[in-house]
Amino acid sequence: MASRLLVARSMAALGRALTPLRKNGKKIALVPTMGALHAGHLALVRAAQRRGDHVIVSIFVNPTQFAPNEDFASYPRTFERDRDALASLGVKVIWAPTAALMYPSGFATRVVPEGAATAGLEDRFRPQFFAGVATVVTKLFTQCRPDFALFGEKDYQQLKVVTRLARDLDLGVKVVAMTTKREKDGLALSSRNVYLSAEERAAAPVLYRTLKDCAAKIGAGRGIGAVLADGRRAIERAGFVLDYLEARHAETLAPVASGKDVPIRLLVAGRIGKTRLIDNIGV
Ligand code: PAJ
Repeated sequence: MASRLLVARSMAALGRALTPLRKNGKKIALVPTMGALHAGHLALVRAAQRRGDHVIVSIFVNPTQFAPNEDFASYPRTFERDRDALASLGVKVIWAPTAALMYPSGFATRVVPEGAATAGLEDRFRPQFFAGVATVVTKLFTQCRPDFALFGEKDYQQLKVVTRLARDLDLGVKVVAMTTKREKDGLALSSRNVYLSAEERAAAPVLYRTLKDCAAKIGAGRGIGAVLADGRRAIERAGFVLDYLEARHAETLAPVASGKDVPIRLLVAGRIGKTRLIDNIGV
């Protein structure tokens, strides 16, 4: 099975790998990742396969979406394991470009998204993040020219940004959303969970627990302001330095004043020790 998996590292190799896949009329689905694959990533792959598509997985730790003080250098890189996991799922192509291919010397163009990308959530704490994501996703879409691309709700603001981006730039790619895969105790799977100490790992499920608790209370008609204030305190008591816990309109990500402004999405981000975690759920 592993021999049928091609790892393309140049545009020429990518072209050679994709040409036969396009011939039989099947759709091509792209699952963009930064590697360190976990069951959440693999669920995106399986969802693409269930649609009957050929699946390409890109693995590229994108330097432009990390700020200088962030974890680009230490981000987990587990290529051999990732490749074996994808081979056993029957993935045909891994697109693993080098940084020099993606950003050759003289590279001078950025895609800078607005709308959901300036909602005051992740963008407030990672000002460079969405331009980095939008630029690399545009490049991945134009390089691979997929019919579909699968993204996780885990990164909800990113999902909204890339959905809009694909439409606004006529990239011809339909962005498909997948629900968040979680550990049994509710912690959202993330490549960054490996950074957590045992004590931090034990505390981390407070994010999902609090989201669920807040969603139930807002759903039952309690005032959003007071519910979120209680939620913030619960998360901080568990040892997090909170970046935000907010209720937003699920489509526009605009702030919502009351539980009647539906649909509502609750989004949270915070740091425990050196690790920054994010999560979100619908009300
Ligand atoms: P990465 O964090 O590797 O995530 C790749 C994809 O997997 C994203 O669409 C993300 O939302 C999804 N994902 C992550 N954890 C998940 C979970 N627990 N359940 C379901 N899906 C999950 O997101 C990125 O990479 C990058 O920003 C990228 C889009 C590749 C651009 O560099």
